[in-house]
Amino acid sequence: MDADERRTGRAVAHRPSTAMTALPPVPVRGSAPTRLATRLQRAHAIADLRAQAARRLPKAVFDFIDGGAEDERTLRDNVAAFDGWMLMPRVGVDVGTRDLSRSILGYPSSLPLMMAPTGLAGFFWPDGEVAGARAAGRAGIPYCLSTNSVASIEQVADGAPEGERWFQLYFLRDRDWMQALLSRAAAARYRVLCLTVDLAVQGRRERDLRNAFTMPLRPRLSTALDLARRPAWLAGAARSRLGFGNFQVAGRGFTSVAQHVASLFDASANWDDIARIRDTWRGPMALKGLLHPADAERAVALGIEAVIVSNHGGRQLDDVPAAIEALPDVAEAVAGRAEVILDGGVRRGTDVIKALALGATACSLGRPFLWGLSAGGTEGVSRAIEIFRNELDTAMTLLGTPSLDAITRDHVRARRGGWERSSAG
Ligand SMILES: Cc1cc2nc3c(=O)[nH]c(=O)nc-3n(C[C@H](O)[C@H](O)[C@H](O)COP(=O)(O)O)c2cc1C
Repeated sequence: MDADERRTGRAVAHRPSTAMTALPPVPVRGSAPTRLATRLQRAHAIADLRAQAARRLPKAVFDFIDGGAEDERTLRDNVAAFDGWMLMPRVGVDVGTRDLSRSILGYPSSLPLMMAPTGLAGFFWPDGEVAGARAAGRAGIPYCLSTNSVASIEQVADGAPEGERWFQLYFLRDRDWMQALLSRAAAARYRVLCLTVDLAVQGRRERDLRNAFTMPLRPRLSTALDLARRPAWLAGAARSRLGFGNFQVAGRGFTSVAQHVASLFDASANWDDIARIRDTWRGPMALKGLLHPADAERAVALGIEAVIVSNHGGRQLDDVPAAIEALPDVAEAVAGRAEVILDGGVRRGTDVIKALALGATACSLGRPFLWGLSAGGTEGVSRAIEIFRNELDTAMTLLGTPSLDAITRDHVRARRGGWERSSAG
């Protein structure tokens, strides 16, 4: 038993439970695909997919995705701060054909977009990580697997062998286990390492506390009616093997994510530890969760190839700047020495344009991807990507920018009077 096991009283096995087993294909029966396809086609904006996800998921699960820390100011600001920028179109430009592709850390992505790492995707849709990775692979954009996935590193690589895979790592107290995760990710051909540095402890997410959110959901009288109204989700969850696929914690139970983080994650990690990981990982590396330009400078000095400007989707420290607000200073500090990825609040193609105009190489999507996944698995994620593609293409045409390189700082203007915090999710 190691120190961690002694502290938590639980045995932590240093072997993945089903690491080398490929997941079976998701069964599809009857007329469901047609109904699903029809429903997804009715989603014309990311907000429509969110509404569909809200109908399919139990409230506690939807809140886990949707919610943020404490008063959720940063969560709302992430979205609302895009209102602080207006687009400034130019006319007389040949926009007969458009090129939406962008190289992201050397990968020729079909769009300036990637799937953010999100824990527990397999809780929202059966084999959700594989479903998301397949949709990303199909669309030709990077997919980043979370440390806290339900499916393991190997299961996702086996289930979605095509496409660009990144692996997201958190600092773990058990450094051997952390190193083992890195070796497994490299062996399973995840090309990019994304190290998340804004989760020393989990932020206080009050919706989850009020809902007593655990994985799996602990049966409670007060939520029985809500669950009964979600038969499709229940059936999927019942046939899923739920757990943290990259860990094996002996003894089944109802685990809150906060407990999982508190028992395994390391709040003492510092820049020396980041440097050590940079030295260990052979491929490109991104650092996720930066807002301060000085931290971006430091990352660049360590040879990190991409900084992800992010406040974890407003789920960690509340009252920090919206990602799009922090972007210009970070981009200026990085000054082209690394790629800059904007993460948080991106809901529209026009948001992507604003981010690119303010210095981002690409944008990362968290909830839009999860709402699509929760609404319709692989097809739902594909629909989310399609919505972004359509919106971005239309906006580029009307803006007079036939390629992403044509988008410049001159295509945006700060809105006079700034922006106001809205209640938008
Ligand atoms: C349900 C959920 C789970 C998440 N899990 C992780 C995770 O395991 N690792 C990580 O680095 N970020 C995680 N994030 C944060 C996302 O990677 C991303 O930073 C955030 O969702 C971006 O904001 P957006 O949802 O507005 O796009 C999670 C976000 C959500 C909504």
